[in-house]
Amino acid sequence: MKITKAIIPAAGLGTRVLPASKSVPKEMLNIVDKPAIQYLVEEAAAAGITDILVITNRGKGVIEDHFDHSFELEKNLEGNPSKAALLESVKRVADLANISYIRQKETKGLAHALYCARAFAGNDPVAVLYGDDVVINEKNPAIGQLCEAYEKYGKTVVGVQSVTADKIGLYCSLGVTPIEGESRVMNCHKIIEKPKPEEVMSLFAILGRVVMGPEMFPLIEQGLENTPEGKELYLTDIFSDLGKEGRLLAYDFEGNRYDMGNKLGIMKANCEVALSHPEIGEDFKAYLKELVKTF
Ligand code: UTP
Repeated sequence: MKITKAIIPAAGLGTRVLPASKSVPKEMLNIVDKPAIQYLVEEAAAAGITDILVITNRGKGVIEDHFDHSFELEKNLEGNPSKAALLESVKRVADLANISYIRQKETKGLAHALYCARAFAGNDPVAVLYGDDVVINEKNPAIGQLCEAYEKYGKTVVGVQSVTADKIGLYCSLGVTPIEGESRVMNCHKIIEKPKPEEVMSLFAILGRVVMGPEMFPLIEQGLENTPEGKELYLTDIFSDLGKEGRLLAYDFEGNRYDMGNKLGIMKANCEVALSHPEIGEDFKAYLKELVKTF
């Protein structure tokens, strides 16, 4: 079954990038000339996704404006032949996918945010792209790699990449076993959130891309019901339960991943994308070369 739906949770508070994210959602912070969330929508569209639900909250209306036509701006650019390419780039943003929005009315974590999308998902598998994780792979979109694995095996797939041993304690560690004939798809039987050094099973961590089967929503619902008021239900706990039952895959996806939820991630994304940007790449490289001489 071809996966055509995606969810982008973008209702977090973005506290690690305050004050930038106070009135501009972190998902709208730019990488050179596009907001982070546009990279996600382009990735999903390139993987054949046609319908996207963005989970937002108060103050994120600017995301809706970005993916809409801007009549005044388009009219203005139309009147200037030298701005034809710019006009095209502005217009195509509104046509990338059918995008709808739902509000998470309380910031109760990622699992709760995804639960808000249950009616959108229905009984279909859905791709999930975490709103602050940008992955760039122009030839083979990361979420498309996971979708293929879901389409082949019919199991929920978490996207993983290797992180360094000194960083794994900040993420989660996955217990995985290889699948014969596969180089990137693995069975995942256990997940430990923020592992202590002696708990680390592998350096694979879940990094912002998932394909969820319809079995996930009842599990999230049950988890939310059993979570005491004021506590957060962690999505990794749900994945971990699925893994114990042999119903979870991990996919080591290819792509350059940038964490737009922290300051260093934002700077790395801007620096690397700027270096290969057709308009400013060469000038930026020359500037950087001069700059490093002063260190
Ligand atoms: P994060 O935990 O990285 O986002 O969630 P955050 O809560 O905004 O981060 P900090 O710690 O305050 O800086 C990953 C993704 O899930 C979304 C976020 O918008 C982000 O894209 N999210 C998180 C929600 O949609 N709702 C939530 O309640 C929490």
